[in-house]
Amino acid sequence: MRMKIVITRQLPQEAMALLRAHADTVEWPHAEQPASRSFLEEHIGDADGVVCLLTERIDAALLARAPRLKAVGTMSVGYNHIDVKAATERGVLVTNTPDVLTETTADLAFALLMATARRLVEASDYLRRGQWTTWSPLQLTGMDVFGATLGIIGMGRIGEAVARRAQGFGMNVLYHNRSRKPEAEERLGLTYAELPRLLSESDFVVVLTPYTPQTAGLIRKEQLQLMKPTAVLINIARGGIVDEADLYDALRSGSLWAAGLDVFETEPVPASHPLLTLPNVVTLPHIGSASVRTRTQMALLAAEGVLQALAGQRPRHVVNP
Ligand code: DGY
Repeated sequence: MRMKIVITRQLPQEAMALLRAHADTVEWPHAEQPASRSFLEEHIGDADGVVCLLTERIDAALLARAPRLKAVGTMSVGYNHIDVKAATERGVLVTNTPDVLTETTADLAFALLMATARRLVEASDYLRRGQWTTWSPLQLTGMDVFGATLGIIGMGRIGEAVARRAQGFGMNVLYHNRSRKPEAEERLGLTYAELPRLLSESDFVVVLTPYTPQTAGLIRKEQLQLMKPTAVLINIARGGIVDEADLYDALRSGSLWAAGLDVFETEPVPASHPLLTLPNVVTLPHIGSASVRTRTQMALLAAEGVLQALAGQRPRHVVNP
């Protein structure tokens, strides 16, 4: 039986080589843009496997056009772009890429936290614009990270990795999660808190929870109002978890000190987005896992997952219930 795998973007060379070594046909759109719906509809019909990115929606209607499909591997830990329920009903295994991106993403969370706290982007722009004419006492002053209280929303693998970094900064760490994690509390010195307490006591809040119907709009006006006016919000999970209009209002009015955002409700975020006009917002184009090594490992893991499923083996990371 011939095996066809559709990939929605050209992957790092190692993953391309692996797929080509096992599949008779590997099809991808030869463009550095998300695969178009028409490309997917045209090629998924006789595909056995799909390797996708978080930029393509793999929904029920698309899956219904793929009678041979056995596996979808996404090169991401998040899988809110895939209709896992529809896939499960069709017997399609869905795999993702946790673990390999944990440390890289935690590094970025901390980099964004520090850049926002100490106004690094603003300071760099200030210098390049020729505005640095003297040293003065309160010029470009930010918030201390050392000894501050960090609230982590979502205590999974990345949450723990962020908490480990926080230990080095002498931070007091609160966390909120679907369920308590007594072992991690003990090991990392964490304190569990309900969301209102976490928001009102933290100097820095890092959003790390997966995007689900339960977490969509989790942080809105009501929650932002609980935060200290000196607090910083960091979101490296998914844009839809934080209401962007409410966040803009809070930052603009000064009821929240600053925000660091690696993710947006609509990606790529339009350059005219109101949040991008605020000096107290540090923005990044969804680069949490973007190191060469990690992105290569993610691509390999996604490719391996699909190949394992097609060989009748159970891949390491299956997200179907
Ligand atoms: C993911 O994997 O879900 C991240 O958002 C991108 O690395």
